[in-house]
Amino acid sequence: MGTIVITGASGGLGRRVAELVPDAIRVTRTPEKLDGVGASEVRPGDFTDPSSLDAAFTGAETLLLISTDVVGVRLEQHQNAVDAAVRAGVKRVVYTSITSPDPDSPLILAREHFATEQMLRDSGLQWTFLRNSIYADMQPATAAQAREHGAYVTNSGDGRLPYVAREDCAQVAAAVLTGEGHENVAYDVTGPDLLSADDLGALYGVPVQQVDDAAYADGLRAAGLPDFVVDLYVTMGAETRAGKFDVESDAVKRLTGREPQPVSALL
Ligand SMILES: NC(=O)c1ccc[n+]([C@@H]2O[C@H](COP(=O)([O-])OP(=O)(O)OC[C@H]3O[C@@H](n4cnc5c(N)ncnc54)[C@H](OP(=O)(O)O)[C@@H]3O)[C@@H](O)[C@H]2O)c1
Repeated sequence: MGTIVITGASGGLGRRVAELVPDAIRVTRTPEKLDGVGASEVRPGDFTDPSSLDAAFTGAETLLLISTDVVGVRLEQHQNAVDAAVRAGVKRVVYTSITSPDPDSPLILAREHFATEQMLRDSGLQWTFLRNSIYADMQPATAAQAREHGAYVTNSGDGRLPYVAREDCAQVAAAVLTGEGHENVAYDVTGPDLLSADDLGALYGVPVQQVDDAAYADGLRAAGLPDFVVDLYVTMGAETRAGKFDVESDAVKRLTGREPQPVSALL
C-alpha cells in the first residue's frame, strides 16, 4: 500500500481517520494541535496557501481530501487542493461529499459538493466520493434546543433523512483509503434509519411544530442567527421536505463490516 495523506487532520473526522490509519501522514493548518497525538508524520498545510500543499502532499499515493468548514468560500480552497494533488502525482483522492450533490439545489452545501466532485472528475485523478449524510452527532444539540423550547420546530414536512454517526463516516473513510477497488466510485454513507421530523420529535420527547419556510426563517432570525445560517437551515429543511435526502445505502455495513449507529445511540 502506498503512502496515504489525510488533510484536515486536526478536525473531528480527520483525527479519527488518522487513528484508524495510523501510518498515514497528517496534514493540518495547526500542527501544534496534534502535539503528542499519534505517532505518524504531521505536515503543515492550508488550502488557502497552495505553496504549502506542494510539500504537504509530496509522496502521497492516496489523499483524503476533507472538505473544509468555510461554506461559501471553500470552492477555491478545494480547487487549490485538487491542483496540488495533481502536481504531487497523487493517484487517488478520497473526498468527503454530501448525499445528493446537485448544481441546481437551493442548498449551498449540495452545490459546493457537486462542484468539487466535478473538479475531481475533471482533474484526471482517480477519485472516491464519500457522500456523507448529515451527522447524527449534531442531534443531541438539536434535541436539547427542542426540549428547551418545548417543541421541535421545523419546515421539513414528511421528508426523511438518514443521519449518520461521524464515527461511521471515519470507519468508511479508513476502509476506502486502505482498501482496493474504490477507484471512481461514489458511496452514499448513511445511518441505519430514515428519520422524519415526527420520528425525531418522538426521540426528543417533544411535540413537532411544522412551519413554512418564511415562518421558519423568521423564527431563526428572531433567535439571533445570521442570514447565512438562516438560509442554510431553511434550504436544508426545504430539500429534506422535497425528499432530496431520502437516501438508503448499506455502504457502512458493506465497507466496514459494522452496523451503522442509530441516532438513539448518540442521544
Ligand atoms: N455531514 C455533516 O453533517 C457535516 C457536518 C459538519 C461538517 N461537515 C463537513 O465535513 C468536514 C469534516 O467534518 P469534521 O466533523 O471533521 O469538521 P470539523 O471538526 O469542524 O473540522 C473542520 C475541518 O476543516 C478543515 N479546514 C478548514 N479550513 C481549512 C483550510 N483552509 N485548509 C485545509 N483544511 C481546512 C480543518 O482542518 P485543520 O483544522 O486540521 O487544518 C478540519 O479538518 C467538515 O470540514 C465539513 O466540510 C459535514
